[in-house]
Amino acid sequence: MRMSVVGTGYLGATHAAAMAELGHEVVGVDVDERKIEALSQGTIPFYEPGLAELVRTHVESGALRFTTDLSEVADAELHFVCVGTPQKAGELAADLTYVDAAVGALVPQLRPGAVVVGKSTVPVGTAARLAPLVTRAGADLVWNPEFLREGFAVEDTLRPDRIVLGVDGGRGLERIRSAYAGILESGTPEVVTDFATAELVKVAANSFLATKISFINAMAEVCEVAGADVTLLAKAIGYDKRIGHGFLQAGLGFGGGCLPKDIRAFIARAGELGVDQAVSFLKNVDEINLRRRARMVDLAREVCDGSLAGRRVGILGVAFKPDSDDIRDSPALEVALTVQRSGAAVRVYDPEAMPNAKDACPTVAYSPNALEACRDADVVLHLTEWAEFRSLQPADLAAVVSERNIVDGRNVLDPARWRAAGWQFRALGRP
Ligand code: UDX
Repeated sequence: MRMSVVGTGYLGATHAAAMAELGHEVVGVDVDERKIEALSQGTIPFYEPGLAELVRTHVESGALRFTTDLSEVADAELHFVCVGTPQKAGELAADLTYVDAAVGALVPQLRPGAVVVGKSTVPVGTAARLAPLVTRAGADLVWNPEFLREGFAVEDTLRPDRIVLGVDGGRGLERIRSAYAGILESGTPEVVTDFATAELVKVAANSFLATKISFINAMAEVCEVAGADVTLLAKAIGYDKRIGHGFLQAGLGFGGGCLPKDIRAFIARAGELGVDQAVSFLKNVDEINLRRRARMVDLAREVCDGSLAGRRVGILGVAFKPDSDDIRDSPALEVALTVQRSGAAVRVYDPEAMPNAKDACPTVAYSPNALEACRDADVVLHLTEWAEFRSLQPADLAAVVSERNIVDGRNVLDPARWRAAGWQFRALGRP
């Protein structure tokens, strides 16, 4: 099928390449000329394992191309809307400027019988508001939320857990099923719904994930004062199949471009709909999550005998999670900045996120590797659980630091190993 993908960020670039991989003829469209130029040359402007190779393969085969000119996609049968819906400045609600602009610009290009497929995460009610614009042009609208995780974007797009299709009559369902035939035929579950349910599936899923993380982090708060170990608690409760082990990793909590802004937008939308009480617990989820960042700074201060002023702090990780260069709402970066503002000399290392961090926070000092970041440090803070930090040897680090103090903000380092090498080892939610 001939298709366009409007918006070429994480979601759009991955979706465009994945659709080409499924055998379609795809044009990616974006207003950002630099992004389009990079993608046209087969390079991607962010870190996502496997994506650059996939883009390059299909740009070279001719199945995938990129443009800033929307009129070039007028003959497409399907148009995927993959633009961002960030948090509005100074508000909890989502900013729909880009979604409205994308659909508004697409409408004059639509040929009769075309299908517009919304993939952006939007407040419930958005699809119903946009549908008349699309149907007036003789086209149909489908709402098809995505659930991809950064770091696994290609895998999650080509082999999703489920495909959710929000429809309102017309030929949209038939068309989108043809587009995803390669995925559906392999047995991927499909859930067909109305628009509102499809929109809510996405925010409900992210709210549940955020709640699970904040639940275990709330238990970590209790463990800290009771002298218990949250990692063993999570292990033990996770064996109950009804609970499961996924998303029970206690630590610095969630960040990134999705979970934080999606739960806040949900709170705002529920308020508009008059059902704010139904999701008021999400405010707690957000608060618990933010408290972990403050607790991490407190632990660093405790280890430094009550004051961070004049101390040297080595920071391992600034990405919001490993296998990503994304620093949006990153707990690690926030901790690094707070520690610096408390008067410490901070040195940061991250395998992939330093270019983004340098742009956003040029006053922080960055180091070329983990050992350099920790040189002469009074305390080392492990904030993003990259695999390379897990394999750090306590003895190697001991040779460069000033004091053997480490705080594990992600609960993945082995306390026994570090303590055996003479380190004072502290962690969130553990004795
Ligand atoms: C998330 C959803 O998983 C995805 O389905 C949705 O489409 C977009 O938002 P992503 O933002 O890529 O994806 O990150 P995810 O892997 O879900 O992690 C989110 C955050 O939670 C990270 O900061 C991570 O470090 C943290 N996390 C995750 C925990 O603190 N503990 C856990 O047990 C799991």
